[in-house]
Amino acid sequence: MNIKACNLKGSDIAMINDKIKISASILGCDLANLESELRRVEKAKADYVHFDVMDGVFVDNISFGLPVLKAAKAKTYLPFDVHLMITDPENYIAEFARCGADIITFHSEATSDIKGCIDLCKKNGCKAGLSIKPSTPASEVFQYLEQLDMVLVMTVEPGFGGQGFLPYTSKKIKEIRQKSDELGLSLDIQVDGGISDKTCNEVKENGANILVAGTYLFKADDMSRAVESLK
Ligand code: DX5
Ligand code: ZN
Repeated sequence: MNIKACNLKGSDIAMINDKIKISASILGCDLANLESELRRVEKAKADYVHFDVMDGVFVDNISFGLPVLKAAKAKTYLPFDVHLMITDPENYIAEFARCGADIITFHSEATSDIKGCIDLCKKNGCKAGLSIKPSTPASEVFQYLEQLDMVLVMTVEPGFGGQGFLPYTSKKIKEIRQKSDELGLSLDIQVDGGISDKTCNEVKENGANILVAGTYLFKADDMSRAVESLK
């Protein structure tokens, strides 16, 4: 289908079933059994593995990093969607690409050289994503939209899984989707934090098309049904 010919807006496009992608955040999995958890994610037909990197500086938590990415990458065919919650991401982008990242997302609040970070992601063969915290205005990403593959709108304060969705972040998803439509781009808009069957409609209606979920997927009795319910 020629989407442009149908005059669909971004939010409508996001509603076309197979346009919605699910990224499973392994921060919420049983890390002692990472390989079998990755197998569960494959079987449930999630689209990406979301890999949260925290440095204890940009956020008040420390998670996992390069060696874990490399080990996990060897155990699954799924693409890795790496979310860097670290200061000065420019120092590590090339290494994360080398260890298996397919998409690298860094935070606008974490670097003074956003353009340089986007270039580094691409130069190292990855898609480039730019993320904003709940309190950062949508307009912060506007000037970079044409160079970006994805914008990640955080729907909780970054740092921990299992938090409640912040409804006021929805407005920013809409603003970014509108701007991207105005520019004629096919931008991916990802949301991360508190995503479940209760909150997914709101983010999709506002134009998000990649949904990250940790707790909701890994605590579900049936992960396949949980993935389906988000789509
Ligand atoms: C939080 C992380 C998220 C987290 C999401 O800073 O970026 O990816 O794992 O977890 P849930 O889905 O449990 O909110
Ligand atoms: Zn994340």
